[in-house]
Amino acid sequence: MNQHDRTMNLENLERVYTQYASVYDQTFGKAFDQSREAVVKGLALSPDETVLEVGVGTGMALPLYPRHCRIVGIDLSEGMLQKAGERIAGHGLEHVSLQRMDAGDMSFDDNTFDLVMAAYVVTAVPDYRKVVSEMIRVCRPGGRVVMLNHFSNGNKYIAAVEKMISPICQRMGFRTDLSLHHVLDGTALQVIKKEKMNPFRYWYLVECVNAKNGYAHS
Ligand SMILES: C[S@@+](CC[C@H](N)C(=O)[O-])C[C@H]1O[C@@H](n2cnc3c(N)ncnc32)[C@H](O)[C@@H]1O
Repeated sequence: MNQHDRTMNLENLERVYTQYASVYDQTFGKAFDQSREAVVKGLALSPDETVLEVGVGTGMALPLYPRHCRIVGIDLSEGMLQKAGERIAGHGLEHVSLQRMDAGDMSFDDNTFDLVMAAYVVTAVPDYRKVVSEMIRVCRPGGRVVMLNHFSNGNKYIAAVEKMISPICQRMGFRTDLSLHHVLDGTALQVIKKEKMNPFRYWYLVECVNAKNGYAHS
């Protein structure tokens, strides 16, 4: 069993994120407020679109979605979901529902959602391939799969540092050594937007069209 398998397993991640839940909003969560807001606004969701928030966490993005959409949030961590539930009740978000679920093994039917969003998640899961493949499966052909995340840097010196610190970060629930190329390789996703985001323009918004089942994006 390697370092990645030991630390990035479902049981450990659930425990780590449930421990974070009470301080998440004031720490890690707060640092990404600005980019979360910019990304959700930029989605320009049309009425009645159905959205899945994968790894919804404490639900910091939930009040940002327009009320004319139906939003479903899933997360593995009971503690994070409890905080998200309190946020939903506090803001009266009747268009939002939550479910406890492993993003790598979702119980939704194929093509259930128009848009699948994962904010700071693909590097926080044990098996990003399973999660991305599930995101594609539950998103309809021609729908959008959106990731807001850090991806390993093309600069070889920074990439070397990211690789070096990744085992330490994995104990805290995320990895730093994953490249966008590896995430998209062999998938049906076509990138339509890629933008650097704050803080430090170190994170990326990657918006993709789900070109599965022969869907042709013009
Ligand atoms: C860094 S937090 C991001 C939370 C939120 N998206 C945000 O923007 O603040 C990562 C989240 O992914 C969740 N997570 C990790 N592995 C998961 C899995 N396999 N299935 C579902 N959620 C998972 C964690 O519990 C945590 O809430």
